[in-house]
Amino acid sequence: MSTDAETPDPEAVDQPFWLSPASFWMPTHYPLSAWFTHAPFASWLVDSIRPRRIVELGTHLGFSCFAFAEAASRLGLPTTVDAVDSWEGDDHAGFYDESVFESVRTVVEQDFPRTVVLNRGWFSDVRPRVADQSVDILHIDGRHGYEDATEDYEQWRSSVADGGVILFHDIAERERGFGVWRLWEEIAEPGRSFFFEHGHGLGLLAVGDIRYKPISRLCGADEETAAKIRGDFSRLGDRVHRQAWLESLPAELDRVNALAHERSLQIDQTAAALEAERQYVQTIKASTSWRITAPLRAVGKLRPHRA
Ligand SMILES: C[S@@+](CC[C@H](N)C(=O)[O-])C[C@H]1O[C@@H](n2cnc3c(N)ncnc32)[C@H](O)[C@@H]1O
Repeated sequence: MSTDAETPDPEAVDQPFWLSPASFWMPTHYPLSAWFTHAPFASWLVDSIRPRRIVELGTHLGFSCFAFAEAASRLGLPTTVDAVDSWEGDDHAGFYDESVFESVRTVVEQDFPRTVVLNRGWFSDVRPRVADQSVDILHIDGRHGYEDATEDYEQWRSSVADGGVILFHDIAERERGFGVWRLWEEIAEPGRSFFFEHGHGLGLLAVGDIRYKPISRLCGADEETAAKIRGDFSRLGDRVHRQAWLESLPAELDRVNALAHERSLQIDQTAAALEAERQYVQTIKASTSWRITAPLRAVGKLRPHRA
């Protein structure tokens, strides 16, 4: 007779729990981003939690927002992704013009009209419109100073439902005034958190009771398993980064061609100016006065050089 102890746990012997089919999905959209290498983890997380609502603080050109939205729509989930941004930029992301918001809006209208809601405004102004305990995944990726990230965390953590998670981007950045690492060191508890070092660092913090088995296994992973998880997601992330580079090539080629065209026009203009100079010199040399003064120039050349 078979006992429970003899029955193999299929999750223990088969595929590692962090490698679901979603971990291998490749995004459709690749706007420039420091988040490229986290897309596989985003898909895995959405598959693991099946969130009703995701809120993102800091969307910029939209890469991470689209990665969450695409995973939700591939899974057929009725998830809402609330993207919050002033769409003005900041001192780390740089300040930018209206074309950034327009590019995000175009993708959302075409591909995610029922999933993504664009909330244009300051994080603190949008916060009262989001009910407490209504968010399953909160992604904090706004300004990256210690005080800024702490303020975003303190204002928004009560919006996350019991069993949800908070993601912090850039926890591995320690230069240029980045201070999310410091906040992370203060709040990351063993058994309730997990972090990646690649892609500028991404931390996951569990809120309240951990309700989803993949999240409890992730947060409870021993050092050896954690290293495997980090290695696998880093390699999967590299694949996305390479694809992003390939996707950028046609635009880069256009840029290089335009530059080459501009340079070639400049070379033509310089050549035309040189030719005009040469003809002018020829005209002078052919003139009567130049020929009459030739002996004087010859005498000048023969005169001994004085120190
Ligand atoms: C690092 S970018 C976001 C990157 C994005 N998650 C991605 O996948 O590439 C940070 C964005 O946060 C926005 N931001 C920073 N602080 C903000 C605040 N207090 N309120 C609204 N937007 C803010 C900036 O406008 C900028 O677009």
